[in-house]
Formats: sequence, structure tokens, C-alpha cells
Amino acid sequence: MPLVTSKELFKKAMSEHYALGAFNVNNMEIIQGIVEGAAAERAPLILQVSAGARKYARHEYLLKLVEAAVETCDLPIVLHLDHGEDFEICKSCVDGGFTSVMIDGSKHPFEENIALTRKVVDYAHPRGVTVEAELGKLAGVEDNVSVSEKDSVFTNPDQAREFVEKSGCDSLAVAIGTSHGAYKFKSEPKLDFDRLEEIQERLPGFPLVLHGASSVPHDLVEFCNRYGGKLVGSRGVPEEMISRAAKMNVCKVNIDTDIRLAITGTIRKCFAEDPSNFDPRHYLGPARDAIRDLVRRKIHVLGCNGKA
Ligand code: G3H
Ligand code: 13P
Ligand code: ZN
Repeated sequence: MPLVTSKELFKKAMSEHYALGAFNVNNMEIIQGIVEGAAAERAPLILQVSAGARKYARHEYLLKLVEAAVETCDLPIVLHLDHGEDFEICKSCVDGGFTSVMIDGSKHPFEENIALTRKVVDYAHPRGVTVEAELGKLAGVEDNVSVSEKDSVFTNPDQAREFVEKSGCDSLAVAIGTSHGAYKFKSEPKLDFDRLEEIQERLPGFPLVLHGASSVPHDLVEFCNRYGGKLVGSRGVPEEMISRAAKMNVCKVNIDTDIRLAITGTIRKCFAEDPSNFDPRHYLGPARDAIRDLVRRKIHVLGCNGKA
């Protein structure tokens, strides 16, 4: 099966109330681990590449690795650019074989974000590539944050509708309290589900995206710390909240940090258990297995098992 766009996958996810996992990839073991996990669960899959990943591994290598994955499994796989910051990187990925790109204009004023997204859409759509955009700024919700402060960073439901109409994007990343990395909340994790409801009321049937959606689960944190890690507490988005969002119009859930934790914890364990281990296959191999197992767990949280 060739690489696919997210269009049909999101339509099915929306109607059957589940979400797809979008996992960040940086090297061969990460790609293989994710694909093995998705294949074991028969789940459709989004593999996403950040600008940093592209710089680290190079576009050509990542593309070929993903093409190899596509050839060796019969899953629908989307190859997506994560957080494209300008038109040029989106164009380069559209021209270079990606089937989906994100233009992240969230740091720009509203009208500029619309204009930049429109420019990417006008380039990508005639070439059969789908476009994700972002409105609002990712940030954790603190108990002492006022409603007006929230309104200044979180996605405004009225603006979301206008943004989608004017930009022509295919999916929209929304800010409802998630954030990137391992420390998302200073106190109790909290997402603004009322806002998410309002956004989906204004945009019926339109695919929404959740960034910063790693759960940083206690068992993974404990695992990392057991072998010398120094992560302080668990401050991710609880898995129940991810499952709840996945049943709504959130069709794509981005996960990177949890994969990083699984890799790092496993490699630390390998060295702690055998300090004479210096064969990369003997620590990257176990890390790849840990990624596979983590992805299987995520797929169940998202409800996309058996949907390929
Ligand atoms: O949202 C960002 C992703 O976690 C990718 O991170 O830019 O360090 O590759 P990166
Ligand atoms: P996490 O840092 O929560 O894994 O989020 C990843 C992400 O949103 C990539 O775009
Ligand atoms: Zn992100």
C-alpha cells in the first residue's frame, strides 16, 4: 500500500469515534518500533518528522526508511511534516514525497496565520497533500489562570471557524491545555473540554488535532528513574483524557515525549544491567521493542486498534 493522505483516515476516525496516533520519528529504530506496534494492532498510522528530525537524520534517509516500512507492512501510513514554520519547509516536504504537512503559524497574528496557511494550502492541495494548521498557543492550565488569560492563549472557538473557512486547511491543532515535553502541568492536569466542545460545535465534522499529548505515565517515569534518570514526578496528560478527546472530533494525537522516555529508560537499563555492553544492537534493539510496546498501549488509549 503506498503512503496515504490523512483525508480518508480522518473521515473514518471521526465517524467511528477514535483517533490516530501521530508519532515523531528520528531514526530507523524509532520508525521500526512504531510500525511494528501499529502492525501488531492493525492500526492506521501517522509518522511525523520535525524540522529537527529532518536536520538530524536528513529528509532523504527518513523518506527511504518510511518507504521501506510502507513496502513491508500493509498499513495505511501518512508521512507528515510536524510544526513546519514557514512556506519553504512545507514546499520542500510537499515536493519531497510527504503526504501531509503542518504549517504552524500559531506564533503569528490571526490574519497573518490565515494568509500563511492559505499559501501552503494553495501549494499543497493541487499536489494531493493535506495541510494541518494551528490556532492558539499550547500551554498547561494552572489553577490560578483567569478566564481572560486562558482566552488569550487557548483556541477561540469563533476564530477557529473563521480560520478554517478562510485558510482552507484540512485539520486544525487546537490549544486546550496540553503542551510539549515532560512537564505539562504544575498542579492537577486539566484540559478545557468545554472549549473543545465549543470548537467542534462551530466546526461540525472537522478534524481536530491535539499536540503535546504525551501522558508521561507514572510507570514510565519510574522506569526511567530506576536506572539513573532524574525526572521529577509525572506531569503529562492522563490517558483517560486522551481517550475522551479521541472519542470527540480529535482525529490526530501527537506523541513524542513518551517515546523518548521509553527509549532512554530502556537504554539506561541495558547499561545498568551489563556495563560491558557496547554493541549498539544490544541496546537499540531493546529500545525498539520498548517503542513497539508503548505504541501498542497508545493505540488502545486512542481506540484505533483494528481500524487499518
Ligand atoms: O513538538 C515537537 C516534537 O516533540 C518534536 O521535537 O523539534 O525536538 O524534534 P523536536
Ligand atoms: P509531546 O511532547 O507531548 O509528546 O508532544 C509531541 C508533539 O506535539 C509533537 O508535535
Ligand atoms: Zn507539537
